[in-house]
Amino acid sequence: MPTLYGYSTSSSGRPTPGSLTIGMYQIKWKFHRDLPATTVFAFGTSAATATFPGPTIEAAQGVPLVVTWENHLPQSHILPWDPTIPTAIPKNGGVPTVVHLHGSIHPPQSDGSALAWFTANFAETGPKWTQPTYTYPNIQHAGNLWYHDHALGLTRVNLLAGLIGAYIIRDTALDAKLRLPLGPQFDMPLVVVDRSFNVDGSLYMNSTGNNPSIHPQWQPEYFGDAIIVNGKAWPYLQVKRRKYRFRIINASNARYFRFALTNGLSFIQVGSDSSYLPTPVPTQTILLSPSEIADVVIDFSTTTANESILTNDAPYPFPSGNLVDSLNGKVMRFIIAPGAPDPPDDSQVPPTLKSYPTPMTYKAVTTRYIVLYEYGPSGNPTHLYINGKRFEDPVTETPKSGTTEIWNVINLTNDNHPLHIHLGTFQATKVQQLVNINTFTACMASLNDAVSCNVSSYATGSLFSIPPYEKTWKNTVKIEPGCQTTIVVQFNVVDDHGAYPFDATAEPGYVYHCHILDHEDNAMIRPLKIIA
Ligand code: C2O
Ligand code: CU
Repeated sequence: MPTLYGYSTSSSGRPTPGSLTIGMYQIKWKFHRDLPATTVFAFGTSAATATFPGPTIEAAQGVPLVVTWENHLPQSHILPWDPTIPTAIPKNGGVPTVVHLHGSIHPPQSDGSALAWFTANFAETGPKWTQPTYTYPNIQHAGNLWYHDHALGLTRVNLLAGLIGAYIIRDTALDAKLRLPLGPQFDMPLVVVDRSFNVDGSLYMNSTGNNPSIHPQWQPEYFGDAIIVNGKAWPYLQVKRRKYRFRIINASNARYFRFALTNGLSFIQVGSDSSYLPTPVPTQTILLSPSEIADVVIDFSTTTANESILTNDAPYPFPSGNLVDSLNGKVMRFIIAPGAPDPPDDSQVPPTLKSYPTPMTYKAVTTRYIVLYEYGPSGNPTHLYINGKRFEDPVTETPKSGTTEIWNVINLTNDNHPLHIHLGTFQATKVQQLVNINTFTACMASLNDAVSCNVSSYATGSLFSIPPYEKTWKNTVKIEPGCQTTIVVQFNVVDDHGAYPFDATAEPGYVYHCHILDHEDNAMIRPLKIIA
């Protein structure tokens, strides 16, 4: 995919604020030479240049970017959507969309609220729509974000159709200091998704709900059997025998990936979603839930082999679902050129990267309990909620701008859920199994309040370790089934600098949700209101 620069360069060479106009178009996209072209929805500066995934936006740290997002999509969707879940339904047809920059810290009017959707040419707009142009201050840490649609009840189908793209906040001074692999040839995003296709090349999505008498189309998780990287099914990349930096984004609806490399290669993880790690973490495997990002270095000079396969062995649903097969168990292939690279590899993985203040539990002003539920027959849910509440129910999470909170996130389902909080960066500090979970769940079913149900007397089981590559400020955290995961969240603040200077308290506010998109749409999502 092409790169769009989110800044201009002044005569003195310094980056100055930039602006972009990016549209959403219906185009034909070739995923594989043996597959007819596929109709997709794609981001681009024109229909002719739109790509799946969309262009990579590269922003400069500290330099604001304004983006006007335009909808040029047709009257009807290319995928089955379900009007019985809470959904944006325009009166006169069209495909509602709204764009969210995932992981970004920005004013609420630029957040891409699920209710701020718009159809082609802004013919119709959602109840919380305010403006066509969004401002991204890029004031947070240099790191890895991505952008995607967020329309109410349509997020899973709009992303499945292709409304995804990478966004990098780059700090050139830090790049020069760290000397990690640099430049478009050696530093690139890998946007990984799973998709299924019909023989005519069209995207396949089951159009019959798992509980069709309740929701005729909605299915609890979408899994595709082909793995797509940067818009190509099981691609290869020709690499030199040197270090590369890959920013691996799991942009799937519901599939977790547990990546590994064949032929003795391993990853050196340098960053996560939102932030660098304090020191590089060498690892054989990386588990990524939907919307998580792993920023890694792979050093192809450490093998004598001439290729390495990037593999996946994460069961789906994760952790106790189906096992992968020869199709969805492989991701892509690196073909490694013989001989030493020319020019020689002058990049390095420095012993230290970037340290930020660690989570300070004592600073937390509030402790909240967030309970994840699934309703309906086990394994065959009709819907999912947070704290037993619908999205439309009055807001209950109202953090103060610039403060730290503790969230105890309790997962009463059998699946792992990736929890994503807008405007927050957070890290897990403790993952503890719940004992007598059935008694606790029964109490929750009647009282619907973790404190009244005395959650602390249940959250006493075994402790799970948090992998070292997740020990930094993140925007998505995996929530283990049957556990209480404690996270320390900063709202609209990083590094003790005080709240960011914009009005985070304005309408339409923000949201937090499960990033399994099929869950988010029905309706594991709640409003988040920042107060002054
Ligand atoms: Cu990646 Cu609320 O979204
Ligand atoms: Cu979920």
